[in-house]
Amino acid sequence: MASRSLNSNKKLFTLSLILLSSSLIILVIFFGSKYNVVDILKLETDQPQVFKNPRWFDLIEEEINGKKKIKVGLVNVNDEESEYKMHGSVVSTVHVHFSHVSKERKWEDFFPEWIAEDQNYDLPTCPEIPMPRLRDYRDLDIVVARVPCEGWTGKAGLRDVFRLQVNLVVANLLVESGWLTPDVHQTVYAVFIGDCGPMPELFRCDDLLRKVGDHWVYKPELRRLKQKVLMPLGSCQIAQPYGKTGKEAWRYYSADHARLKKLKYSSFHQREAYVTVLHSSEAYVCGAIALAQSIIQSNSTRDLLLLHDENISPKSLTGLRFAGWKTRQIERIRSHFAMKDSYNEWNYSKLRIWMLTWYDKVIFIDSDVLVFENMDSLFVYPQLSAAANDKTLFNSGVMVIEPSLCMFEDLMLKSFKVESYNGGDQGFLNEVFTWWHRLPSKVNFLKIFNGNKSEKIPDDLSAIHYLGLKPWMCYRDYDCNWDMKARQVFANDKAHEKWWQVYDAMPEKLQQYCGLTEHMNWRINKWRRIARNLRLPDEHWNIAVTDPRQYNLVQ
Ligand SMILES: *[C@@H]1O[C@H](CO)[C@@H](O)[C@H](O)[C@H]1NC(C)=O
Ligand SMILES: *[C@@H]1O[C@H](CO)[C@@H](O)[C@H](O)[C@H]1NC(C)=O
Ligand SMILES: *[C@@H]1O[C@H](CO)[C@@H](O)[C@H](O)[C@H]1NC(C)=O
Repeated sequence: MASRSLNSNKKLFTLSLILLSSSLIILVIFFGSKYNVVDILKLETDQPQVFKNPRWFDLIEEEINGKKKIKVGLVNVNDEESEYKMHGSVVSTVHVHFSHVSKERKWEDFFPEWIAEDQNYDLPTCPEIPMPRLRDYRDLDIVVARVPCEGWTGKAGLRDVFRLQVNLVVANLLVESGWLTPDVHQTVYAVFIGDCGPMPELFRCDDLLRKVGDHWVYKPELRRLKQKVLMPLGSCQIAQPYGKTGKEAWRYYSADHARLKKLKYSSFHQREAYVTVLHSSEAYVCGAIALAQSIIQSNSTRDLLLLHDENISPKSLTGLRFAGWKTRQIERIRSHFAMKDSYNEWNYSKLRIWMLTWYDKVIFIDSDVLVFENMDSLFVYPQLSAAANDKTLFNSGVMVIEPSLCMFEDLMLKSFKVESYNGGDQGFLNEVFTWWHRLPSKVNFLKIFNGNKSEKIPDDLSAIHYLGLKPWMCYRDYDCNWDMKARQVFANDKAHEKWWQVYDAMPEKLQQYCGLTEHMNWRINKWRRIARNLRLPDEHWNIAVTDPRQYNLVQ
């Protein structure tokens, strides 16, 4: 009995506890909501009297506190020109006038597949993109711009000329007001309105202060922006100083002189490196060794860094280091749009170069490239500078990039959405960097000859990109792309010979990394036989092979 009554007492106690706590909860919710309701009522009744700032102003307010007079330029924004007062500051707005770029202009007009690079032709010109009269807008603190982004799905890059115009107008206004002299800058801000935000090629994610809804607030680094507004409007001209105009003033802006002075560095001591990436197999180890040797032979003064995944053996790494590379292990990155086990399944590993933030600039070079002339002068170019590939696209085999962690994260996010025309990094990067700067084709000479089997290649090449079967996968006697009909467009004995000259200059210790395996040897001979049976008219299959590597197969 006693125990039962104790038990029911316990139950009663528990019940009352539950009742008490739930009423407390109800009370809290009630009062909480009551206060909210009161607030909302108060706000709504107050609204007509309270002055409402535009949204961009609230976003920028804390950045500009204390300044008495603030001038705002409106670009592609239809708001009235009005004046706001705020904590003792007067904020005035002004419309920035400029003519809309001709609707006839297409992206292809600014990024033509081919342009004359030869000094004997006239300097190619770019179509016009009208700018405002900049000297009328010299004292802006903020530029607010509505960025067009029609039909954007996020799946492909935007190639919209008007969007480029708006971005360039903002960039030029900011430079005009902010860049007083190379050493004296005035802080300026940009606010972009629109779902797509500004072009990341011009406005770096590193400079993004905040993003609220479709409003993006930037405090751009003027040094980099200044250089970019001095670049050609597209790849319709070669980025200077290779152009004919001889205007090299912008070179000055590529170095952070204030920082360099502090560090007592000369502009030649920016942190810069040539970088290549090896992943998934050892097929390109020999290529990377020859590449390092060729860069060293070009008397470069920059770091050589090789990123590799776990598939590169310790023995290979020893050779690569001996060849001149510093090495660093990475995890490879799968391309979301490549087929399983396809040749480019892991090509997004290249994106790791954006993580190398201890360098200011990186020149990425594919491991099937050789350098024949010093290319250190390319480090003055901004991201992303490259040679042309086809259509409006650049070739990702040689690129100048600027490492940035937020850019790397952005690339990772985009890699799941943005489609790549070839499943490889080149297709992907061309959708992210639709606005790029053209380097002369001689810095990444693509060994491909459309329909013309001429043996000639220009003799002033800075670098050759060995497309097709790689030289170390052939006998040194001739370019074995000749033996495969489908690959004859890549065949060139002169370029092949140039690769073997670099090989010959290598220490023997390194040459051993370029041996033929049984499989490679078998494959060469298989295609030689097929070519002989087909009696291919170039008759390379008839050349007697003297390459000693055929007798010293490696495993
Ligand atoms: C590198 O320097 C050496 C010695 O000064 C010179 O002979 C050679 O031509 C240079 N190589 C290149 C590619 O400029
Ligand atoms: C992808 O990487 C592989 C192996 O490293 C290479 O053979 C191939 O050319 C690359 N493909 C593209 C599209 O970059
Ligand atoms: C191929 O190139 C050579 C030398 O550059 C030139 O003389 C010849 O006309 C070209 N042939 C074709 C079919 O374009």
